[in-house]
Amino acid sequence: MKMVFVEAIGSKVSSIGFGCASLGSRIGTRKGIETLERAYEAGITWYDVAPSYGDGMAESIWGEFASGKRDGVYVCTKVGMRPPKTSNTMRLLKPLSRVAIAAVPALKQYVSRVRPTPFKVSLSAQLIRSSVEESLVRLRTDYVDVLALHRPTAEELVREDIIRAVERVVQDGKVRAISVAGDLEAGITALNESLPYRFIQIANAPLEPNLGKLKERAHRQRTFVTHGTFSGLERIVAKFHARKELLGALGDLGYRGSPTEMAIAFLADYAFATNSAGVTLVSMFKKEHLDFNLQRLGNGPTPERLNDVVAALGAGVKE
Ligand SMILES: NC(=O)c1ccc[n+]([C@@H]2O[C@H](COP(=O)([O-])OP(=O)(O)OC[C@H]3O[C@@H](n4cnc5c(N)ncnc54)[C@H](OP(=O)(O)O)[C@@H]3O)[C@@H](O)[C@H]2O)c1
Repeated sequence: MKMVFVEAIGSKVSSIGFGCASLGSRIGTRKGIETLERAYEAGITWYDVAPSYGDGMAESIWGEFASGKRDGVYVCTKVGMRPPKTSNTMRLLKPLSRVAIAAVPALKQYVSRVRPTPFKVSLSAQLIRSSVEESLVRLRTDYVDVLALHRPTAEELVREDIIRAVERVVQDGKVRAISVAGDLEAGITALNESLPYRFIQIANAPLEPNLGKLKERAHRQRTFVTHGTFSGLERIVAKFHARKELLGALGDLGYRGSPTEMAIAFLADYAFATNSAGVTLVSMFKKEHLDFNLQRLGNGPTPERLNDVVAALGAGVKE
């Protein structure tokens, strides 16, 4: 497993992190724990959860998985988004909908359209304190490695009461380091050296190259935690179909297979190569996805070699 040293917590962690947004919603408890165990066996030590993930279930399921191995794993949880209100009927229907989607994958689109989604709540010192306490209970631990402010506004990031509240949970030993998990504006704000944010979690993909924009401005040591690896897959595949020269350029770099297979490998390589010093979060509940992503990790072309394709797609790549 490729490991990276994370200064803010003084530890080496796996450079690929397991994204748990679907843990408890799309993925049920039993399958979720089996999958997390498989990832752990493969050497993944970084896990990303939030109170809002998995319809509010992700933290508890992770807590069950991590009990007995807390010293060997790192967890980032968040504050600022609440899970959707799920009625008893919806809760009862959830296992049924998983079975239905497994049998007819086309149903997935419909179910995601009608599913209620998490919503943002305003940050306050009181919310930060209570949310951390509640997360610790669900995660079955007495500290989290990272607490991320979840989709904060730029104004919330610089507010005195919020800064004091996050510093307080660190001083109390409940949190080891603070992160921002939001959009580019939040990421840029968090780079300010006088603020306490040591991690920046942000989407990063060839069509959304946020990391390059942040790295241009970063003067101090930060750990970037990226996600969104496969979110542009359909658009990239459409571009490959429309512009065969892009496939030719990937072929020259050694990529083989159908346009979709080439796009998947290219997206994984881009994500890992551009954030080689940080942690790339990926959702990998399917075994073949875990195996494929681990096989690509550290084995793709350098960012410089990917640059031609990225430039041709209309985006820039920076390492
Ligand atoms: N801070 C934020 O606001 C924020 C926002 C979004 C996400 N996140 C974090 O980032 C994590 C990842 O989320 P994401 O949106 O970036 O999703 P992603 O990792 O791009 O995964 C999206 C989909 O791609 C599939 N996949 C994974 N590896 C694949 C492969 N090799 N080939 C084909 N498909 C593959 C996954 O399937 P399976 O899971 O079924 O294997 C999943 O359905 C989340 O779980 C969460 O922890 C944070």
